[in-house]
Amino acid sequence: MARILITSALPYINGVKHLGTLTGSMLPADVFARFQRARGNETLYICATDEHGTPAELAAAEAGQDVRTYCDEHHVLQHDIGRAFGLSWDWFGRSSNAPNHRLTQHFAQKLEANSLIEERTDKMVYSIDDRRFLPDRYVEGTCPRCAYDRARGDQCDNCGELLDPTDLIAPHSVISGSTNIEVRDTRHLYVLQTKLEGRIRDWVDSRADSWPTLTRGIAYKHLDEGLIDRGITRDLAWGIPVVRDGAPRPGFENKVFYVWFDAPIEYIGATVEWSEATGADWKRWWRNDEGAADVEYVQFMGKDNVAFHTVNFPATILGSGEPWKLVDRLKAFNWLNWYGDKFSTTNKRGVFMDAALELLPPDLWRWYLTANAPEGSDTAFTWEQFQSTVNKDLADVLGNFVNRIAKFNEVRFEGLVPAGGEPGPLEDKLVADVAAQLVELTSQLDAIEMRKAAQAVRALWVLGNEYLQEAAPWTAIKTDPARAAVVVRTGLNLAALYARVSAPFIPFAAESILSAFGEPWPAAWPSTDVAAELSRLEAGRPIRVPDVLFPKVLDEQIAEWTERFGGAQGA
Ligand code: 2FM
Ligand code: ZN
Repeated sequence: MARILITSALPYINGVKHLGTLTGSMLPADVFARFQRARGNETLYICATDEHGTPAELAAAEAGQDVRTYCDEHHVLQHDIGRAFGLSWDWFGRSSNAPNHRLTQHFAQKLEANSLIEERTDKMVYSIDDRRFLPDRYVEGTCPRCAYDRARGDQCDNCGELLDPTDLIAPHSVISGSTNIEVRDTRHLYVLQTKLEGRIRDWVDSRADSWPTLTRGIAYKHLDEGLIDRGITRDLAWGIPVVRDGAPRPGFENKVFYVWFDAPIEYIGATVEWSEATGADWKRWWRNDEGAADVEYVQFMGKDNVAFHTVNFPATILGSGEPWKLVDRLKAFNWLNWYGDKFSTTNKRGVFMDAALELLPPDLWRWYLTANAPEGSDTAFTWEQFQSTVNKDLADVLGNFVNRIAKFNEVRFEGLVPAGGEPGPLEDKLVADVAAQLVELTSQLDAIEMRKAAQAVRALWVLGNEYLQEAAPWTAIKTDPARAAVVVRTGLNLAALYARVSAPFIPFAAESILSAFGEPWPAAWPSTDVAAELSRLEAGRPIRVPDVLFPKVLDEQIAEWTERFGGAQGA
């Protein structure tokens, strides 16, 4: 049994996330975690809200709340929505909790002890009208690289470039809009990534073979451009205090660590939270000297987060000189766009997680978003494609098959798995076809190829309808009841197998099929002995017809939602 640690990028606390965020981190991580658990691997899936820095402060200000209250409320909100989507986090923590404070301060201290932190006087953007510094997202302006005119002080959302507020052309304050801005001196701590460059590159070289092209490309781009020393403190009030020897660091009383310094450390912090809540041992997941060397650590994130996870966070870990776990496989995603344009929180373009759940059950979203995961390139969400994908795959293929076989069994065999008859050539062919697709599915999930995995599940579902069509139990029942019994028994077993392999993708439907079939939940992944798997349900077992598994998405709904959320005309 392997041990798998899974983290998905921590969603910012600043409001309910849109479907793009879900698709590029939390959902694929969940599919992978469910798959690993089903295979019997010891799995720990950790996520948390990312609560510090300017995103939190700005959102709280906009909501007219103090930042702590805002974070308390929004953590619960994001937690509940994630759960409603079926995200099976083992723990959903908070970067503002005590373990992250302790760990972040610990890492900073270790880096400093290893001469990898330096205090420097920095030039920072200061707003005269607001009488304060404007770190990161408090300032916006034009990107020096791509000329996008709404680049933020920390990063350009258009080209992905990591920025310093002083890099921006024509900057203005996000608080007041003021352009009455000057550059002033302020002291900050810097991590000397220039000194760590060799070690980071060696580490990347040792892992990159197992990374997808997207991850590898971004990591080497940053390394090849040459690392620069990075400021890890900010002139802000909300965040993790900068301490030295347990007391506020002189000159840093009004400063905190930069959100991107403490956020990835919260992967560890959240695991500590989990261990404090459950009594489990967190060190065997994170400390190589306490057993974590045997763990496979897999991260999921959107492409804008890759540099932080291949360079900055590893710099913290490697620089500490301590035996912390580093990521093994890093799965990155491109953007899910909304009709070729970006999802936008500010412009309310696109569907957000809470609204999505008001429209349709989570499995429909989960299926569409996994089957169309932006793996090879950016992909566009369109209502039309959404409707046709979920109606075809879920309602017409899987839902129809399960319903058809269970109903027929109810009408003709009193809802009990029928006895009698022997499998024939059609069943032999089915077993072979299912076995081949199951191998394909398992290996694509192992490889975290979400689109290909979804294709393989779909291909499995199709086999069932083809089998029923050919075996035609409704004809056989008239002349050869034993033959009909074989087909129905096989079909019921196939439906149960579908539920088991579909569970990572559509857990709600899978659970309702398995419960109707009297099968255990959560379900184990099927073995490669497909003949045995298809004779699992013993004759005489009662089978219910499950409730409607997937509602059909109607044209009128698509028209209404296009109107409400924007569609082609919004592009
Ligand atoms: O980009 C984001 O949404 C960040 N909140 C991701 C943080 S990931 C991790 F490092 F915490
Ligand atoms: Zn740019």
